[in-house]
Amino acid sequence: MKTRETWGTRAGFILAAAGSAIGLGNIWRFPGEAYEFGGGAFLLPYLFAILTAGIPLLLLEYTIGRKYRLGPPSAFRSIYRPAEGIGWWQNAIAFFLATFYAVIIAWALSYVFFSPSLAWGDDAGAFFGVEYLRAGEPLDFFEYRPAMLGALAAVWAVVLLIMAGGVRKGLELANRICIPLLLVLFGVVVVRALTLEGAAEGLNAFFTPQWDKIGDYEIWLAAYAQVFFSLSIGMGTMIAYSSYLKKHSELSTTAVTVGFANSSFELLAGIGVFSVLGFMSGEADVPIDQLVGTGGGVAFVTFPTILSQMPGGAFIGVLFFATLVVAGITSLISMVIVPFSSFEDRFGWSRKKSVLVLGLPMAAFSLLIYPTANGSSMVDAVDFAVSGYGLVLGGLATIVLAFATGKIKALAAEANRTSMLKLGNVWYTCLALTAVVLVYTLYKSIQGQIADLSDPDVPNELIYINWGVGGAMILFGVVMTAVLYRRPIPERVEEAAAAAA
Ligand code: PHE
Repeated sequence: MKTRETWGTRAGFILAAAGSAIGLGNIWRFPGEAYEFGGGAFLLPYLFAILTAGIPLLLLEYTIGRKYRLGPPSAFRSIYRPAEGIGWWQNAIAFFLATFYAVIIAWALSYVFFSPSLAWGDDAGAFFGVEYLRAGEPLDFFEYRPAMLGALAAVWAVVLLIMAGGVRKGLELANRICIPLLLVLFGVVVVRALTLEGAAEGLNAFFTPQWDKIGDYEIWLAAYAQVFFSLSIGMGTMIAYSSYLKKHSELSTTAVTVGFANSSFELLAGIGVFSVLGFMSGEADVPIDQLVGTGGGVAFVTFPTILSQMPGGAFIGVLFFATLVVAGITSLISMVIVPFSSFEDRFGWSRKKSVLVLGLPMAAFSLLIYPTANGSSMVDAVDFAVSGYGLVLGGLATIVLAFATGKIKALAAEANRTSMLKLGNVWYTCLALTAVVLVYTLYKSIQGQIADLSDPDVPNELIYINWGVGGAMILFGVVMTAVLYRRPIPERVEEAAAAAA
């Protein structure tokens, strides 16, 4: 038993929370989603979801974390004993998300080294799929790709080193170094993109609202999913991070700052990528919405293609892929903290024990499954279980729990104790509205998957892997709750001291 660490400074927490939010979701996922859902048509639902779902839920997670000062399972248990399972289930989500997210960082790391010589030549698509991934069939397990394996091992080594440093000397320090670095790296990339010929065309596509598409439910679903992923909510990450806050830390302006920083970065990424698409559309003489190799492949196919065509491409390539690596690492550590904080608080583990018993097996699983012939298919299958269902369901469960146990008012009062913006009816309404939208989201995506089962173009194995992973995660939550039901949370010295004082 020992006292629990806290963040050293308010800025330290803000940087870490922003570092968690700003990640591959902003640079790799957002522009692809915006492209797929009609550029400007995506922006309005996205902004709506940020304001009505993202920031309110961020505040809910911060408040739970700061109030109980425990990792997600113990925090949920303190709200309502059987709810402990929500936290364990979020542990499972974090496990699967972290283990594949690391692989995308590893791809980016490889591309930092490919950039100086523009190694992909004139066919970036073939280079990525055939030479680098050497993608095989969806069920070709355990056929390793050594270069990817090496890059992935390096990513995990850095992450475990940061985790071993604890809150102040690990997480806080890493973010203090990485966030300013990120701004500089990415700033240069965006400025270069904006000065390309044709950039204005791209920006028009990005910013022009397409009103006729606004009624399309898929766009709304995609926007909500993007906001959850991007703000790192629904998985207990923000509960874990804010559990290291001091009791009197301010919450409301912090949530607004983090939300604003994240969206600014996301819009900046959108501006950069669409400028580049505008340039490419001019060079190839193809309208922007018909460029091939976009969508999810924006970062590893479209971008390299353009780098080969633009002056200074090799240099910009290094900066761009380094941005992905740095942004990705600060998010990955915030996923790994979920199981770390959960086991440490629930079983009194030391950080050293977490690194050995949780960190190393996570890295091993990631290395075993992903740097392989079917790694990118597995990324797709697991990504859907995690981003399509996991985070959204996790967010929903948190909201339902807060309302159903009647704790929502007490939580608002706890936040209002120190907050500049007072939480009240507007907050309740936003959360309730979010719950309704999420139930609908869920219903629609299950319906979509059932339809996919009879679609010959979608391999059924992937849908089964997806459901298997989803089912296993929920089962883990249920089993852990049952096993631990009668076992109290270990007391901590600082609490004993506070009680005695
Ligand atoms: N927000 C991160 C990103 O945008 C991803 C993430 C999701 C991190 C959930 C933690 C928890 O890349």
